[in-house]
Parts: sequence; structure tokens; C-alpha cells
Amino acid sequence: MSTDDVGARAASFDRGAGAYAAARPGYPDEAVRWAVPPDARDVLDLAAGTGKLTQPLVALGLHVVAVEPSDEMRAQLSALLPDVEAFPGTAEHLDLPDACVDAVTVAQAWHWVDPPAAATEIARVLRPGGQVAPIWNVRDDTVDWVGRWTEIVHRGDSLTDTLRYGEPALGDLFTEPEHATFRWMRPMHPADLRTLAASRSHLLLLPDDERDGLLDAIDELAATHPDLRGRDVVEMPYRTECYRARLR
Ligand SMILES: C[S@@+](CC[C@H](N)C(=O)[O-])C[C@H]1O[C@@H](n2cnc3c(N)ncnc32)[C@H](O)[C@@H]1O
Repeated sequence: MSTDDVGARAASFDRGAGAYAAARPGYPDEAVRWAVPPDARDVLDLAAGTGKLTQPLVALGLHVVAVEPSDEMRAQLSALLPDVEAFPGTAEHLDLPDACVDAVTVAQAWHWVDPPAAATEIARVLRPGGQVAPIWNVRDDTVDWVGRWTEIVHRGDSLTDTLRYGEPALGDLFTEPEHATFRWMRPMHPADLRTLAASRSHLLLLPDDERDGLLDAIDELAATHPDLRGRDVVEMPYRTECYRARLR
């Protein structure tokens, strides 16, 4: 399977669900609250993965339904959140009734979907005036060690410039997206920098020897960079980039 094939990359998470659950960041509460209308009751967390965003949505007291195509990712979600209904499905085909939710969240996944088909399907399941919110966690690569970490995990990745993490193309069915940025720090053990790298779609599809080479380079960075070497805890700086738009 090729690492530059978008479909294969989108499906790669099946192979790394455990690493994903262990290593990937969650989302700050202010960002989650901003993403969902204050009067929302029923929320679809689409492309829910292992439940990184589903969990804080549930904690807000919302009734959350999760849709996620990967069986392995969904199994992690159900282990974490056994009371949440989690269905197979994609952004382009949701096996849900028309007008059944007040809001749809799509975290760290809009770059994997077909935007026109996804926007049409999301509009179908939203109630009148409902809201969709694509969200991304983005590392602050201006910090030296973070930029070096990113350079290593992107080595040989031809899709780096293709996958768009910016304003989502939602089309005419939705209002112009509003945008907000939430900055936060994530405490991590330096060894977690390897697991975080291993959970990425590019690495999941690499041949073992190439993946191990990149992971060894991450270990080397953790062992030698002056801001990482000998530390028990390091702080990964993140921006959570949130977009929201209402159904017209
Ligand atoms: C990077 S993970 C994000 C998971 C979770 N939302 C989070 O924030 O941790 C991307 C997820 O999108 C899913 N995915 C890929 N293509 C998809 C599609 N067309 N429709 C819905 N989900 C998709 C993958 O299976 C994967 O679980």
C-alpha cells in the first residue's frame, strides 16, 4: 500500500488505533464549547476515531452519536465510552435519518473527506439552523524542537502539501465559516514523542525499516535536543483551529 495514496492514508488508522488512542491529543474545553451551539442537545461526532473529541462532548452533557469508518478505531471509542452509540459510516454516507442532530463535529478529519459529498450529507442529517464544525489540532512548529519533530515525521511524505488543514470548503449549503484559534500546552513524556509519530498515517503505511528509521530519528531528537534531553516532562505547544458554519 502506498503512503502517497489519499484513500489508503485515510484508511490507515485501522493499523494504529491503539497507538492513536495512547498518543494523540484531546481538545481544550473552550474549543469544544465554541464548536457546538449553546442550545444543542444532539450531536454527531463524525470521523470520531478513538473518541478524543467525543469524550469532551459527552462531558458537556450533550447526547452524542459517533460515526467512524474504521472498526479498530471504533472499538477503542466503545472501550473508552461504552454508553455512546458508535456506528460505521463515512462523511459521504451516513446511515442516519434526515434532520436528526443539532450539530456535527469533524475533528482532524475534514482533510480526508470529499468536501462536496460530505457537506451535502452533513446538511441532510442536520436540523434546520444546525451547525457543522471542522476542527484541527496543529503543533506550533516555530518552537525549534517541534519543528525538528515535524520535519522527521514528514520525511518522504508527498501528501504534506496536498492535505488542507485550513478553511473547509462547505459550499452554498452553509453560511461562511467562522474561525477561532485556541492555544494550549500538552504535557508529554519525551518517550511519547515516538508513539505520537508512530500514530501518523504516513508512518503507518511505511515499510517497517523506513518507519523504524524515522522513529529512531525521533528518539535521537528526544535524547539530544537541549530542550528535551533529560526532561521527565516536555510541553508540546498546540493551536486548536476551529471552524463553524450554520445550515442556511
Ligand atoms: C486523524 S483521525 C481523527 C479522529 C478523531 N476525530 C480525533 O480527533 O482524534 C481521522 C479519522 O477519520 C476517519 N476517516 C477517514 N476517512 C473518512 C471519511 N471519508 N469519513 C469519515 N471518517 C473518515 C479515519 O478512520 C480516522 O479515524
